[in-house]
Amino acid sequence: MPPRILVVDDEAPMRELLRIILEAEGYHVAEASTLSEAHAQLHRNRFDLVVCDIYLPDGNGLELIRTARQNNQETPFVVITAHTTPAQAITALREGAVDYLSKPFDVEVLKAVVGKHLAPAAPQPVAFFGFLGQAPSLWPILQRLPQVARSDATVLITGESGTGKELLARAIHAASPRAAAPFVPVNCGALPEPLLESELFGHARGAFTGAVREKKGLFLEAHGGTLFLDEVGELPLTMQVKLLRALQERRIRPVGDNREIEVDVRIIAATNRDLEKLLKEGQFREDLYYRLNVIHLHVPPLRERREDIPELARHFVSRACNRLKLPTKQIHRDVMAVLENYPWPGNVRELENIMERAVALEPSSVITLSALPTTLLGQGEMAPSSGPVRLPEGGLDVEAHLHELRREYMRQALARTGGVQKEAAKLLRMSYRAFRYHVAKYKLVED
Ligand SMILES: Nc1ncnc2c1ncn2[C@@H]1O[C@H](COP(=O)(O)OP(=O)(O)OP(=O)(O)O)[C@@H](O)[C@H]1O
Ligand SMILES: [Mg+2]
Repeated sequence: MPPRILVVDDEAPMRELLRIILEAEGYHVAEASTLSEAHAQLHRNRFDLVVCDIYLPDGNGLELIRTARQNNQETPFVVITAHTTPAQAITALREGAVDYLSKPFDVEVLKAVVGKHLAPAAPQPVAFFGFLGQAPSLWPILQRLPQVARSDATVLITGESGTGKELLARAIHAASPRAAAPFVPVNCGALPEPLLESELFGHARGAFTGAVREKKGLFLEAHGGTLFLDEVGELPLTMQVKLLRALQERRIRPVGDNREIEVDVRIIAATNRDLEKLLKEGQFREDLYYRLNVIHLHVPPLRERREDIPELARHFVSRACNRLKLPTKQIHRDVMAVLENYPWPGNVRELENIMERAVALEPSSVITLSALPTTLLGQGEMAPSSGPVRLPEGGLDVEAHLHELRREYMRQALARTGGVQKEAAKLLRMSYRAFRYHVAKYKLVED
C-alpha cells in the first residue's frame, strides 16, 4: 500500500501540480478544495500525511490540525502558503504542523519535506521463532536456520554471554519436527559431577544415600525432543566421557542401574568459552568436540549487529510495558542514538535489562535519557546527576520500580544458581515460598 496523502488547496492548478509531483513519487493522492471538504475526507479516510494551504475560502487550514489532534490523530501536516511570514510559520508549527513551505516552492524541497515526514511503515520485526534480528552479520546463521531446524544433527552454538544462544536453541527446537516434544535445558556448569550425572542420566532407587526414589534424568525427560546442553565448556573431563558415550550409543545408563535405556533426543550444545582453546589445553575432549560440532552456529555480539538494536529495544520495551499493563512507551531518538553507539559488553541480555529498567523508571510515555543508567551516557554533559538511586524529574511509579528491581535480582540469582530456586531464594534472603510465588508472578521460568 503506497502512503496516502491529502492535498488541500482552493486553487485547482495548485492541486493538480501537487498531485503530479506526489504521484510521480509513488504516493496515493486525494484532494480537497475547501475546509469542509477536507474535514469530510479526514473523517472518512486515514491519511499518512496532509499537505494544506492556510487560507481557504471557508476558513483557516490550521483548524484541520486542531481537529485532528482533538481526535488523537497523529497525521503529520505540512502547511503551504503564499508569502509565509516567520510569524505564520511559527503559528503553524505551534498548532502542530510538522513543516511548512512557502509558495512558490521548489519541487525538490517539497519532495524532501514530504518524504521526511512520511514515517516509513513501522517495519515488522523479523523473527525466526522468537529470535529477532536481520543484521547482515546474522545472515550466515539465518540462512541456515530452516534447514538446521529440519535436520536432526547435533548443533553447537557459540557466542559471548547474553548473545541469545539459548533463545536460538529454543527457536531451532520450535521450528523442528520435534517441536511438540519437550525442550530440556541443562546447565552443565551448575552442578558438581555426581549430581550432574544423576541429573542427566537419572538414578535407580537406592543408587546412593538419599536416592530414595528412582529418578528419570533429563535425557529421558527430553525423549522425542531436544536436550540443550548449556555451558558445555564447563563439563568436567570425566563427565565428558560419559556424555560422549551416551551420544555415540544413543543409550543411557542411570546411576546405580545396570540396564541401558535407549533415548531419542536431539542435542544442541552451547558455550561462551573458546572450545578450541580448551581442546589445546586438554580441558575438553577432542572426540566430544567433534561429536558436538556437527553444525556450528556462531552468534555475533550485539556490537557487530547494531542494525538490530532499535528493533530489539522496541521489542523489550513493549514486552515490559505489557507485563506491567502500561500502554507501550515510545523510545526518544536521543535514547536510540545512545543505544546504537554503546559497546554492549553484556550483549542482548544487557539491552533487555536496560530497557526493562527504563520502562520502570520512565514516568512519561516516551523513554528519555534520564531513564538510562549513567554508564551508558558516558562522562559527557549529557550525564544527569549520578548515583544508583535517582528520582527522575517527573517522579516515578515506585511500586512498579521496586517490582522491577526485585525481578532483576531474582533473575540474576537464578542465573547464578543455574536455575536452582532454593539456592537463589537463599541468596536473596527470601523464603522459598515467597521466591516461588514471585517466580510465577514475574514469569521468570517457563510453565
Ligand atoms: N535475537 C534475539 N531476539 C529477541 N530476544 C533476544 C535475542 N537474543 C537474545 N535475546 C534475549 O536476551 C536474553 C539473553 O539471551 P540468552 O539467554 O539466549 O543468551 P545466552 O547467549 O544463552 O547467554 P549466556 O551465555 O549468558 O547464557 C534473553 O532474555 C533472550 O530472550
Ligand atoms: Mg545461556
